[in-house]
Amino acid sequence: MEREQTIRISPEEMEAQRRFAREFAHLPDRPRTYHIVTYGCQMNVHDSEKLAGMLEEMGMTPAPTREEADFVLHNTCCIRDNAERKALGNVTWLKEIKKQRPGMLIGVCGCMVQEPGMAEKILRQYPFVDVAFGTGNIYRLPELLYRAVDTRRRTVAVPQEQSTLIEGLPIRRESPFQSYVTIMYGCNNFCSYCIVPYVRGRERSRSADDILREVEGLQKQGVQEIMLLGQNVNSYGNDTPGGITFPQLLRRISQTGIPRVRFMTSHPKDLSDELIAEFAENPVLCRHLHLPVQSGSNAILQAMNRRYTRESYLEKVEKIRKAAPDVGLTTDLIVAFPGETDQDFEDTMDLVRQVCFDSAFTFIYSPRVGTRAAGMPGRIDPALATERIERLIALQEEMTQKRFAEMIEKTESVLVTGQSRRNEKQFTGKTSRNISVNFEGSSEMIGKIVPVRITAASKTTLRGQMQGA
Ligand code: 5AD
Ligand code: SF4
Repeated sequence: MEREQTIRISPEEMEAQRRFAREFAHLPDRPRTYHIVTYGCQMNVHDSEKLAGMLEEMGMTPAPTREEADFVLHNTCCIRDNAERKALGNVTWLKEIKKQRPGMLIGVCGCMVQEPGMAEKILRQYPFVDVAFGTGNIYRLPELLYRAVDTRRRTVAVPQEQSTLIEGLPIRRESPFQSYVTIMYGCNNFCSYCIVPYVRGRERSRSADDILREVEGLQKQGVQEIMLLGQNVNSYGNDTPGGITFPQLLRRISQTGIPRVRFMTSHPKDLSDELIAEFAENPVLCRHLHLPVQSGSNAILQAMNRRYTRESYLEKVEKIRKAAPDVGLTTDLIVAFPGETDQDFEDTMDLVRQVCFDSAFTFIYSPRVGTRAAGMPGRIDPALATERIERLIALQEEMTQKRFAEMIEKTESVLVTGQSRRNEKQFTGKTSRNISVNFEGSSEMIGKIVPVRITAASKTTLRGQMQGA
């Protein structure tokens, strides 16, 4: 495997960008409002918070809709073909709006732009796109937008290397009480279906000091819950010898006084006993583990290059259930991977029955150019793929109902996240196990953790009654 060097963006370079941001405010006819459209995972959602932070530093304010914004930025995803088509479809749709408002600027960034050949495609086929940049250089947004406005020419900049480590970007956080904190970027696993290592680069961990400083700052602001982000958080620190491990980092973060900490995502092969013990011992750690299994068949797991077996996965599930029985497990599943036989699929169904996950994200395999699986024989007929995913979804719904039934009459700590738009007495929140609960409350509860007795379950959420109300 080729090794890419981590490139730490220097403080001087970050300062140069801040200068562009300040100068931008003085440009004549500059865009004044922005709207960011985000696709994909939490990592992208958090990147959009940084993009918004930079745009605000440039003197721009959010516009409520795309149509009204002077600058519309699409932060794209390319994990599956449909994510990519949706983003490109929306960019094209905006072309018509731009015809009526010629001053409007259109930007595209994120994983899709980092795909080989995509920058050229944008230059050729999307002449109405004014700014495009990859994941490796989001910090250059002030400079790129400055140039696009100043010269009235398109700027497309996609770095060859994506292995940048960027500190010090301003962040405009979506929520005052739930915050994302990235602990590492990139992935080294090269699962044969996955494009992430190609567009997000190799694993690089932020320093524990930088992470802790950020968490302490959030704690002081009253943040209730932190979600630590990384493609594979269990390998945190592997690229920085002498540093601390992920469970050690978790412990230090939990000591800052933040009421809740959760994380995403764990690769089953790297789920250590040390981390399992942390679930048993650390009350700050939320009772939820997302552990993507992808398939229940050993042949498919091997073809996927997952480097664990069905048996070793089930063993880890057993260990965690023994150490911390109240931890809810969720997963990701792919059906119709090349060569998946009826028996392989039944193995997945069987594993889902055996583990009884709280919920699962289910996907039909989507070939991605440049990945190993894209060249594998044995493509599955789309009608069969649909039949399989429908059966899998139906089974998972049954499992979710089983899990929900166990929760009825229990009292859960719920972080209240919002108010229903349809009924102002209705509130919604998340249990430590990451399950949505709806209940009657009052608006001063928003952002607080309150006890709620679970009374009923619907397909995807619970109903409850606030205790002491
Ligand atoms: N096709 C279908 N699903 C995919 N995933 C990643 N790559 C693909 C692909 N090419 C799924 C995996 C992963 C989740 C984030 O997306 O299940 O865990
Ligand atoms: Fe993709 Fe596998 Fe890395 Fe997850 S662990 S991002 S599925 S390569």
